[in-house]
Amino acid sequence: MELIDVLGICGSLRPGSLNRALLLAAQELAPAPFRVQTWDGEAEVPRVHAAMGRPFPPVIGALRDRVAAADVLLLVTPELNRAIPGTMKDIVDWLGILAPPRPLTGKPVVLMSASPNRFGGAFAQLQLGDLLRRSGAEVLSDLDVVVGDAHRQVDDHGVLVGEDPRREITELWQRVLTQIRNDRPAVPA
Ligand SMILES: Cc1cc2nc3c(=O)[nH]c(=O)nc-3n(C[C@H](O)[C@H](O)[C@H](O)COP(=O)(O)O)c2cc1C
Repeated sequence: MELIDVLGICGSLRPGSLNRALLLAAQELAPAPFRVQTWDGEAEVPRVHAAMGRPFPPVIGALRDRVAAADVLLLVTPELNRAIPGTMKDIVDWLGILAPPRPLTGKPVVLMSASPNRFGGAFAQLQLGDLLRRSGAEVLSDLDVVVGDAHRQVDDHGVLVGEDPRREITELWQRVLTQIRNDRPAVPA
């Protein structure tokens, strides 16, 4: 069975991050033929400013290549002041710069978020979806996995144990698989 490669990125730099726990659960629960790999360069992302671009900083050049090579991009975002954190914004801005290999153009993207409050980062997810669509990405899912009260869903070892979010993640992967197979009949059923 042909693998579907997913690159997962978390927008939090915080030790004990709830969103990283969510990313790891998404990795754990992804069924075959998904292969979810995580990117751990978030702390190394340089700030974007207008004079920066090609040649890209090495960490960004490598990230752009990895996103371009992935079949699906999974972005897991915290919410700060009802918006995505600066780290996530910088990542999207770097990826959106229109230079080969144009990693966001037509890229299927799945969004998830977690927050200790009851809205679960939904505002940040909506904002991130909007940014990605403007950058030419194909947002396959937003607001399907929105983990509220997340501090009660993650155990002391940083494992997402809540039954509801785990079920939502599992159901989302099944929907994404169906979408990808419908879009790309070449992927064997
Ligand atoms: C400056 C600041 C602003 C925040 N604003 C929001 C917010 O608007 N909405 C929300 O759901 N959580 C908000 N939070 C709480 C974060 O969701 C919470 O700290 C969460 O654990 C961060 O994600 P992480 O655990 O993955 O690092 C805020 C936290 C900080 C420090």
